[in-house]
Amino acid sequence: MLRYLCGFKSSVLSITVLGIESSCDETSAAVCREGSILSNVVAGQEIHSLYGGVVPELASRAHIQHIVPVVDQALVRAGLELKNIHAVAFTQAPGLIGSLLVGAQFAKSVASALKVPLIAVHHMQAHVLANLIGGRENPASIPGFPFLCLTVSGGHTQIVICRGPLDLEVIGETTDDAAGEAFDKSAKLLGLPYPGGPLIDRYAAHGNPNRFSFPEPQIPGLNFSFSGLKTAILYFIQRERAKDPDFTEKNLADICASIQSRIISILLNKLKKASAETGIRDLCLAGGVAANRGLRKAFEDLGRDIGWKTFIPRMEYCTDNAAMIALTGYYKFLGGEFSPLSIPVSARAGW
Ligand code: KG4
Ligand code: ZN
Repeated sequence: MLRYLCGFKSSVLSITVLGIESSCDETSAAVCREGSILSNVVAGQEIHSLYGGVVPELASRAHIQHIVPVVDQALVRAGLELKNIHAVAFTQAPGLIGSLLVGAQFAKSVASALKVPLIAVHHMQAHVLANLIGGRENPASIPGFPFLCLTVSGGHTQIVICRGPLDLEVIGETTDDAAGEAFDKSAKLLGLPYPGGPLIDRYAAHGNPNRFSFPEPQIPGLNFSFSGLKTAILYFIQRERAKDPDFTEKNLADICASIQSRIISILLNKLKKASAETGIRDLCLAGGVAANRGLRKAFEDLGRDIGWKTFIPRMEYCTDNAAMIALTGYYKFLGGEFSPLSIPVSARAGW
């Protein structure tokens, strides 16, 4: 750490981190200066909707096409140049290996060329810390430590205690599908394109959540399971379509609202339990599924009833983004957590 700081002369007062995210199907770059996000550019990949899910090889190729213009734009929007960057942070795990490699190799090349430190970031830690974005400008807008975070994405569902930016502990997680997969697989069963989560959200807004009833699994502790729900939905649709082939089309809004309502109750019942067991009352959401309007409202309503302080990142910081990687990189810089250029990427979730 000292070695790096000595090289910074006067600029040491405004540590500036370039963040790169490429774990799945979004290529993103962001600049964080002293904890403030100066830019956050995200390029999505429409191509996967043709295949009903992310195709890893296509994702890697798209990252290769996007990474240079995305990083370029992030610097332009921040009003900076590469020479102003003090460290490069990148998503090192978990994710699709080919996608991770593109971002990692790019980050390593930039760090090496600029002779600045490289910082490996865990994607799930970054999703949690997305709740700290904006705290420098408005400290009251972010949670106090320790806080609990329900991280719900396409690949993960976790309850995390965050005691500090670099002190996190997973206390509950899914034993099978993630919440985002539950949304996407349900949508697929209903004939909706990938990613189906946002579409279920949209249809559910006009539907009756009490019209159809789906089971809530009884999983011990703070863990989750969504595979039983998926099977129940499959059998329900098969049964109803045998009676009326147009059943799903005619009842789409009510089916979406009922599925969404069950996914939300599974998530929030565990979060309630986690808060009761830990005594922590600053509660956060994170991850792509935190963009779900039904979940956001139910979380805030529950928080009001129970007396929690609730926090949800802005939409653009819920889905995959490099702002959260750059901010996590900033905290790791302060903590002296740097990585060698030889660090490998990892598809696995352990942290
Ligand atoms: O965090 P994220 O962008 O990528 C991963 O790290 O997985 O999460 C993507 C997931 C997908 O499953 C997508 O369907 C879901 O988030 N998602 C939503 C909504 N927006 C994104 N699920 C439900 N409602 C939404 N509005
Ligand atoms: Zn994610």
